[in-house]
Amino acid sequence: MNDLTNKKILFIICGGVSAYKSLEILRLFKKSNAKLKTILTKNAKEFVTPLSVASLSQGKVYDDLFNVENEAEMDHISLSRWADVIVVAPATANTISKLSNGSSEDLASTVILASNKQVFLAPAMNVRMWNHNSNQNNLKTLKNYGYKIIGPIIGDMACGEYGEGKMSEPKDIYDEIFNFLSNKIKNKKIKALVTAGPTNEYIDPVRYITNKSSGKQGYEIAKSLFKRGFDTTLISGPTNLDFNENINFIKVETAEEMFKATQKNLPVDIAIFAAAVSDFKLSKKYDKKIKKQENLTINLEKNTDILNYVSNHNSKRPKLVIGFAAETDNLDENALEKLTNKNCDWIIANDVSKKDKGFNSEFNEVVIHYKNNKIKREKLSLKKKSEISEEIVDRIVSQIN
Ligand code: PMT
Repeated sequence: MNDLTNKKILFIICGGVSAYKSLEILRLFKKSNAKLKTILTKNAKEFVTPLSVASLSQGKVYDDLFNVENEAEMDHISLSRWADVIVVAPATANTISKLSNGSSEDLASTVILASNKQVFLAPAMNVRMWNHNSNQNNLKTLKNYGYKIIGPIIGDMACGEYGEGKMSEPKDIYDEIFNFLSNKIKNKKIKALVTAGPTNEYIDPVRYITNKSSGKQGYEIAKSLFKRGFDTTLISGPTNLDFNENINFIKVETAEEMFKATQKNLPVDIAIFAAAVSDFKLSKKYDKKIKKQENLTINLEKNTDILNYVSNHNSKRPKLVIGFAAETDNLDENALEKLTNKNCDWIIANDVSKKDKGFNSEFNEVVIHYKNNKIKREKLSLKKKSEISEEIVDRIVSQIN
């Protein structure tokens, strides 16, 4: 039986003809023992009644941001914290537009804006509205923010037209949320470790060798893993990025510190190496600031390859070891060499020769090479690093579950 005991779903119904189908989704959730709270937007009440929603969800129904009684019992912040997941079905063009602009003019948009939980949108609207550039741009923005979009599907519409824009079937929406929540339960015991950012290799107390890595790609992967319920550790070189407080976060500066922190956090089930670790360090670091001089020769020696160490560990090798390959030429060839030489299960190749992707950009374009999978190569085309991370984590989840 599909069991969602103790899982908390905040279900938001917007004003659209397909709102009546949401009652069936609520019924399916209730049958799986999920705990439900529901928000009806002002327009939703034109299509379904609070009474029918309350009796099907057997939970509280909210409708007004400034309802004193509701705010005393549970304010909009607590409501967003209460939920494990937020589902908006149907999601109208108007709500999609409000969310993409960060508007908070009613309870539904305020709760979503105040939330750090996964939000699923099941859009429903006329085919022309669906295809309109403004709506498509809004959806693109929301996908970049990490929202998951379910559907819509193609079919006959209430307005008499035919095309894409019809809300997905209740069972399909239910299945998607069920899979998300049950994977989250399964993933809870799975430990993931991510390295991110550059390292600083000191020449003297004030000078160091580093690189252009911002840490974004690794941080986004850690964020996506955490969102899916993994017990996530992020080991980061120096960056200016914020991190999720629930992630086990370890800040390091040098490759040696990153190596020690990684060793200390083994064993894990999954390890992803997105850090741009310096291959070399000073053979001998100067204790005092080097004085100005005509010439200076410094000797470098190899740093420990952290990925190599982990992927060849006798007793603590993770089940899934994923490396990154930062390349400026012969992307496939060089990445495949690293897949074999570094004993990875997957290697994710990215081109770091361009300004619009790779190092220190919001965007990336990657090719995943798999060692033992049926499919050997997959390209994820240019998109936000947050989206690339979601797609990588989708693949991790389906591999380990
Ligand atoms: O940080 P961003 O600005 O978001 O940019 C993202 C990124 C381009 C840094 C990232 O996507 C990426 O490619 N990371 C790996 C960079 C790198 O050092 O690649 P490499 O080809 O030199 O190394 C191959 C693999 O070995 C990497 O997984 C690296 O983390 C690992 N390695 C390398 C050397 C070392 N001493 N220890 C390691 O673990």
